[in-house]
Amino acid sequence: MTRIQPGSGTFAASAEPAHDPELLRARALDALTTARERTALLTGCVADEELTAQHSPLMSPLVWDLAHIGNQEEQWLLRTVAGREALRPEIDSVYDAFEHPRSERPTLPLLSPTEARGYAADVRGRVLDVLERAPLHGGPLVDAAFAFGMIAQHEQQHDETMLITHQLRRGSAALTAPQPPRAPADAAALPADVLVPGGEFTMGTSAEPWALDNERPAHRRELAAFRIDTVPVSNGAYLRFIEDGGYDEARWWHPRGWELVREHGLTAPLFWRRDGATWLRRRFGVVEPVPVDEPVVHVSWYEADAYARWAGRRLPTEAEWEMAARFDPATGRSRRYPWGDADPTPERANLGQRHLSPAPVGGYPLGASALGVRQLIGDVWEWTASDFLPYPGFVAFPYREYSEVFFGDAHKVLRGGSFAVDPVACRGTFRNWDLPVRRQIFAGFRTARDARPEQR
Ligand code: AVJ
Ligand code: FE
Repeated sequence: MTRIQPGSGTFAASAEPAHDPELLRARALDALTTARERTALLTGCVADEELTAQHSPLMSPLVWDLAHIGNQEEQWLLRTVAGREALRPEIDSVYDAFEHPRSERPTLPLLSPTEARGYAADVRGRVLDVLERAPLHGGPLVDAAFAFGMIAQHEQQHDETMLITHQLRRGSAALTAPQPPRAPADAAALPADVLVPGGEFTMGTSAEPWALDNERPAHRRELAAFRIDTVPVSNGAYLRFIEDGGYDEARWWHPRGWELVREHGLTAPLFWRRDGATWLRRRFGVVEPVPVDEPVVHVSWYEADAYARWAGRRLPTEAEWEMAARFDPATGRSRRYPWGDADPTPERANLGQRHLSPAPVGGYPLGASALGVRQLIGDVWEWTASDFLPYPGFVAFPYREYSEVFFGDAHKVLRGGSFAVDPVACRGTFRNWDLPVRRQIFAGFRTARDARPEQR
């Protein structure tokens, strides 16, 4: 078994405009190195034959992700930023995510594990050379080392994807990690929800140097007062929905969600199995009783939506989630993170695959928002009610296929990041999206409701 090493990440991108090119270079180097250590772990902890296997038709073989990581890095940092020639132009189409859906990737002429490692390492060696000398000003791609930060985030996103493949893989555990911290003493006494007063706040960012195109620009939003859960919905709470017959009653479900329940005979989150009176779940090769105090994970948007309706509540909109996470009523400002503007630390959030699970609900009091909402960053991605749409003033950058081609009503927004997200790819403004049917991602949710007039 391979033990997870805490990432070496020391410098995350910071909100202060960083003009010192040596500091930017150190940050970029650190982010790229941290990502590569994780990629090496995720592709080195199983035999090479497992890298080429299709563990699930929902996912690519791990070796595809590995070479795709190298190929994107080559395209952006060697060809676009440094103007170099393609190293292996014939492989571009194999690693183009849009040309080949995941299910058909095992049949492509993929590089072997040895070739893929060699290619990614070759690209990285040249990139480090470029990074040492590249001017870090003179255009949006190189300003603040943006392209290097973007590529580190891209690799980390695929690392999370690879961790999902590990979760879907059958067989004994390949990964292990220490347990997350136990819930603090006050967890049981927290109020069920928190009042967010409503009014105007700043959503999105124009200042965060490594923010991706869909997080931009900063803009004002006005919201009515609402209440939002202090902590994510737990397995214990979700079990009450199951035991109350939640999966048997159409009235809680979006029509498409109900169809899916019927079609697939859904009765519980993905990876759960009933054994007599006990619910068991499989996580990274280990089967154990469902822990009631952990955030529920591996539910689709439809399940989250049905639970919320059963509870007499609703999912928060994306804007509500961000206001709850970032708004500081004392200053009227939006913070970078719930706790303030400082970068994440292990005391504030469960990020970076330091643990292989979310922490029990009520955790990370030092990561609470100004309004007292906990675990907004890290632990589990949180489904929101919102479709993935551009902010007013959106400009696709540097490529339409990162965000723009996904805008519309097919995808729902997820916020906050999971235990499997690296800090470099997680911010109060970060937007993730997926199809509402998705269950293999590390997604849970919290609920909200309109505040009654007397509570405004
Ligand atoms: C932002 C996580 C939805 O994995 O599909 C990776 C990120 N984009 N390569 C994904 C991404 C291109 C993307 N998500
Ligand atoms: Fe990609």
